[in-house]
Amino acid sequence: MKFPEGFLWGAATSAHQVEGNTTHNDWWEAEQAARVPFQSGRACNQYELFERDFDLAKSLNHNAHRLSIEWSRIEPKEGMWDEKEIEHYRTVLLALKNRGLKSFVTLHHFTNPLWFAKKGGWNNAHASAYFVRYVKTVVERFGDLIGCIITINEPLVYMGLSYREGRWPPFHKNDFWSIVRVFRAMVQAHRQAYAAIKMVQQTIPVGIAANLIDFQPRHKWNPVDWLISWSANYFWNDLFLKQVSRHMDFIGVNYYFHHHVHTMPFFGYSLSGHSFSDLGWGIHPEGLYWVVKNMRSYRKPIYITENGIADAKDEKRTEFIVNHLRFLYQNIREGCDVRGYFYWSLTDNFEWADGFWPRFGLADINYETFERGVRPSAKVYQEICAINGIPQNLMK
Ligand code: BGC
Repeated sequence: MKFPEGFLWGAATSAHQVEGNTTHNDWWEAEQAARVPFQSGRACNQYELFERDFDLAKSLNHNAHRLSIEWSRIEPKEGMWDEKEIEHYRTVLLALKNRGLKSFVTLHHFTNPLWFAKKGGWNNAHASAYFVRYVKTVVERFGDLIGCIITINEPLVYMGLSYREGRWPPFHKNDFWSIVRVFRAMVQAHRQAYAAIKMVQQTIPVGIAANLIDFQPRHKWNPVDWLISWSANYFWNDLFLKQVSRHMDFIGVNYYFHHHVHTMPFFGYSLSGHSFSDLGWGIHPEGLYWVVKNMRSYRKPIYITENGIADAKDEKRTEFIVNHLRFLYQNIREGCDVRGYFYWSLTDNFEWADGFWPRFGLADINYETFERGVRPSAKVYQEICAINGIPQNLMK
């Protein structure tokens, strides 16, 4: 299974999860106040070890890499730009460039600067203006080194965990009015950021990373199940994208979940799959095919910006990757313009409210020594990247 010429292969990360000491954001504060169960601390110490990690990615034959910029490093106090941190990110992006790794840079990956959070964060009437001011600074100061931009990572996951479940900062439970406001603010922020980026760097492709769920009716013969799964699909997968579709050059797809939606025996959904990850998430590679297929109506290039598994023993990861790629290949064969795949994640990292125990990495981390060790599945993925396709021997 040969993938198209120039296909991008890589892995994805985010700043708070890997850098360590991101002390000026709302997550850090929540961790110190024990409002979340674990502390990110030095995380993977990637702030210091980025060159080592990029060497690792290079040695694994990746040709692209997704990372995020920590807003609270660049603007630790309102309107105050930290030159040292700007220089740091220039060095980081240059390190990717020098290794021939195309950078996919996320500008917002769940964390907010503390000053912004204190003003109400995405609930503040001027939220998008604050965000856009930061975005402009980023692009003016190191846009020349950026391959592609993802403005916001998974807006709906952020809203769900922060304003419905209340498990993430700012810990609002079932705050539906805030969800409406945050939704609007993020749509506006994305659109305005898109325009602002284009004013500075016309050529950088700009998109968004959406967490897409494959909703299927549990009982195919039950019209109510159908209706519910159709609505779930519309509200979760399409509503936000439809608002920003005229302001994006590509769609970033993060795929982890397949849900069976049902009305009987009671209304709800179940996490289903053929087998399960360490986090109990069902593994269902075919769902990737359906969510990607559903994106065709947008007529935009697609990148899989995240897809991965928590699997400490590395028993399921190889099969996980290969099977998802087989379905992705089917999309491509049917004419979908899929241009890249980023495995989540390059190394184990800080998995938010679950702390360090879920192990998503192609490389494992010893959190005492910060030593990285390549897992066997990473070698298989390495081979896939090298030949730009799935080798014969894996096609059983
Ligand atoms: C997020 C990552 C997270 C991953 C695994 C994604 O939804 O973007 O930050 O680590 O899922 O839970």
